[in-house]
Amino acid sequence: MKLPNGPQTPAIVQMLQWVATPMWFMEDCAKRYGDIFTIQLNMPLVLVSNPQALQQILTSDAKEFAAPSNLNSLFEPLLGKNSLITVSGETHKRQRQLLTPPFHGERMHNYAQTISNITQEVIKSWQVSETVCIRSAMQTITLRVIMQAVFGLYNSSRAVELERVISIMMDAGGSSPLRALMLYYPALQRDLGKLTPWGTFLRRREMVNKLIYTEIAERRENPDPERTDILSLLMAACDQNGEPMTDVELRDELITLLSAGHETTATALTWAFYWIHKTPSVRYKLLAELDGLDDMDFNAVNKLPYLSAVCNETLRIYPVGMLTFPREVKEPVNLCGYDLEPGTYIMGSIYLTHRREDIYSEAKQFSPERFLSRQFSPYEFLPFGGGVRRCIGNAFAMLEMKIVLATVMKLVELELVTNKDVRPRRRGLVTGPNQAINMSVKGMREARVLSTSV
Ligand code: HEM
Repeated sequence: MKLPNGPQTPAIVQMLQWVATPMWFMEDCAKRYGDIFTIQLNMPLVLVSNPQALQQILTSDAKEFAAPSNLNSLFEPLLGKNSLITVSGETHKRQRQLLTPPFHGERMHNYAQTISNITQEVIKSWQVSETVCIRSAMQTITLRVIMQAVFGLYNSSRAVELERVISIMMDAGGSSPLRALMLYYPALQRDLGKLTPWGTFLRRREMVNKLIYTEIAERRENPDPERTDILSLLMAACDQNGEPMTDVELRDELITLLSAGHETTATALTWAFYWIHKTPSVRYKLLAELDGLDDMDFNAVNKLPYLSAVCNETLRIYPVGMLTFPREVKEPVNLCGYDLEPGTYIMGSIYLTHRREDIYSEAKQFSPERFLSRQFSPYEFLPFGGGVRRCIGNAFAMLEMKIVLATVMKLVELELVTNKDVRPRRRGLVTGPNQAINMSVKGMREARVLSTSV
């Protein structure tokens, strides 16, 4: 089978580059081979960064491409076999229909209030001249928010314990290339005791499972039809044969939402604080826009043009998800001049697409203004992927970013502790800043409580 060109180095060398420096590796390949190239990991993988080709692949009803889950088995140790991410075909379609509504429409109003309350609660403890680690603060906020949306659990002892165990499980080696390598090579996933990385992960996963199963069992014993959280909704749902979801299916879906829904948004927010404070003109314009708001009217915050542009530019310049999930060629197809055979695996490179100079002039510059002067197509700007596996938390994540940023910026004056450039690097299967982003609290801008309206 003739595949697009790509590096000829041994697969193990490519895998090590992929795990250690994925963005540099992709950039280097794009320089040498262009918009489409093949890399060799444990199998050949075609990466694409051409918007027309991305449109071809990601158009939801394209017959030539499927969005299978077999390559997503990388996520199985954490998410299980019944997660939206690890299922495909009809099961995937049904699960999406079930999980999409809670992240859209009316529900978003309730979440907006929760996001604002939790943000204010977290920053309440900040003192003038204190140094705060923005990433930890953002992780606390996003984890509490998603716990509230998924379980309706907030401040109970189980919520506090789950929050604690999930954050250590997600953090355990999350940033180390070794952990990523273990995910690519199942043979390395061996429990060699509680002091080894895989052994630690398994024990923490066990603790999380126990808490989730206890919560499910209690809900089954005391059903409450008034509850509107996502767990209640899933427990009430039945499949096409009228069967409700099993405990294991529920667990897999819950852990998927908890993990996909907090780490990603926390990273995006961390980058946003970095860029806003690294670029004084951006901070100034954003504050001017926020000062125009009398109270935190969530609808108004969601529509603020400059704030939206700042969030988009943050997700463009260093996208948290470097790639779309894999797509598989189902029928012979021509992509960027190459005839691809059925069975070829392709991934959209979000990172390379967002750094194309022909779409984004001075692509390495942080410039929210580009989103005010031009509209980009969903295949030029795709931080949440596209098509049948498009991120279901897209609207939720954007709302969360805007409310957290608006709340913090309105209440607290922050400054970067160092002006050093921060670069992205792999964090497990996604990316994030290569160092902690510490900020000092310079002062309080307004009364510590914001009046809100929906
Ligand atoms: C800034 C934050 C986020 C970013 C950058 C992000 C990015 C992505 C990307 C790139 C994909 C792959 C799409 C594709 O293959 O076409 C994805 C899928 C997914 N995301 Fe997100 N995401 C974010 C937040 C969230 C949140 C808040 C949730 C849940 C509450 C979530 C849940 C999911 C799920 C379940 C999938 C898999 C969808 C499927 O397989 O059908 N994400 N996300």
